[in-house]
Amino acid sequence: MKIADHAELIKEAERFVKQVLSGEASGHDWWHIERVRNTALDIAAKENADRTVCELAALLHDVADEKLNASKEAGLQKVRTWLEGHTADGDLTDKVMDIIANMSFNGGKNPPMATLEGQVVQDADRLDAIGAIGIARTFAYSGAKGRIIHDPELSPDALAQEDYRSAGKTAIYHFYEKLLKLKDLMNTPYAKELAEQRHAFMELYLQQFYSEWGSRNPQEK
Ligand code: ADP
Ligand code: NI
Repeated sequence: MKIADHAELIKEAERFVKQVLSGEASGHDWWHIERVRNTALDIAAKENADRTVCELAALLHDVADEKLNASKEAGLQKVRTWLEGHTADGDLTDKVMDIIANMSFNGGKNPPMATLEGQVVQDADRLDAIGAIGIARTFAYSGAKGRIIHDPELSPDALAQEDYRSAGKTAIYHFYEKLLKLKDLMNTPYAKELAEQRHAFMELYLQQFYSEWGSRNPQEK
């Protein structure tokens, strides 16, 4: 059934996403989607981005995740099929698909998002990976993979080295490979502001973490 009304379409997308992600406990459960949607709408308002494109892309962005599908292509096809089945607005479908296909972190190596709406949704997803919530998600993900919190024998200096990967990742390692890099990868001015606070909290967290452990922070040279 095609839905012309944007509010209705968004409600239907919400139902679809809840059903696809039910039972997901590895850090992008429904509440991750809800947070990304709300943050995307906040940023969109500040940056004058199209709300419908941002909200739909935020809602659908993890449905295509490789971890939930046979391949990234199969995941993207799932989202496209849903969109084509629910809206006759081909332009909206293309815009949302373009965002979802290009927004992953990929070590920060992907080219910048081409549209303002893409930048907004990518920023919202990245903001959810940092700060207090980002820290919680990191430990949840790491635990789900059966990994340990931290390995002081490989730290502090090994954390900075690429070959640390081969030793098996710890949750703390993820701060260095991703979380601490995200602040500088924000696209929009408002997201940069939000990221500053969340980044500062992670620095404080790590300081306290190492202090309790009785070792030094590898970032303090
Ligand atoms: P998203 O695109 O929604 O951020 P990801 O699938 O990349 O989703 O990651 C889900 C969550 O798990 C994020 O908070 C991310 O930082 C965290 N995560 C991803 N990879 C790792 C890892 N190797 N170790 C610990 N946490 C991770
Ligand atoms: Ni996400």
